[in-house]
Amino acid sequence: MTGEETEISGMLRIAAPKDLAVVRKGLRDVASTMGFNVVDSTRIVTAAVEIARNIIHYAGSGELIWREVKNEKRKGLRLEFVDQGPGIGDPALAMTPGYSTSGGLGMGLPGVKRLADEMEVRSGIGKGTTVLITQWLVP
Ligand SMILES: Nc1ncnc2c1ncn2[C@@H]1O[C@H](COP(=O)(O)OP(=O)(O)OP(=O)(O)O)[C@@H](O)[C@H]1O
Ligand SMILES: [Mg+2]
Repeated sequence: MTGEETEISGMLRIAAPKDLAVVRKGLRDVASTMGFNVVDSTRIVTAAVEIARNIIHYAGSGELIWREVKNEKRKGLRLEFVDQGPGIGDPALAMTPGYSTSGGLGMGLPGVKRLADEMEVRSGIGKGTTVLITQWLVP
C-alpha cells in the first residue's frame, strides 16, 4: 500500500449487526467531508459494510480504524479492519468469487476487491484477520 498517514483518523467497534449502520453512516460522513463524490463514497462504504459483516459472522467482533492518507498526488481514505477471529488459511482463495466456508455466495470479498482502489488481506489460521482497503480521491 502506498501513501502517508495523516492525523485525521478514527476508530469504530464492530461487534453486532447494529454496528453496520454506524459504520455506514460514520464512513459516509467521513467520505463526504473529504470531498468524495457520491459514487466513490458509496463504493467504499459498501465495501466496508461487507468486510464488517464478515467480522461479525466469522470473528464475532473486531474494529475499523479509518484514516486519511496522502501521497504526492492525492488524498485517500484508508480503512483497516482488524479481528482476532479464526483467521483465513488462504486469503487469495478467500478472495475468489464463489468461495465460502459458510454456505454463503462467496461474493463479499470479491465485491470488495472490485469496489476498492486497493485491497490487502493479511491473515492466517489462528492469527486473526486484517483487511486494508484504500480509496483515492480524484482531484
Ligand atoms: N474476518 C474473517 N475471519 C475469518 N474468515 C473470514 C473472514 N472474512 C472472510 N472469511 C472467509 O472468507 C470466505 C469468503 O468471504 P466472502 O465475504 O467473500 O464470502 P462469504 O462471507 O462466505 O459469503 P457472502 O457472499 O455472503 O459474503 C468466507 O467464507 C470465510 O471463510
Ligand atoms: Mg461475506
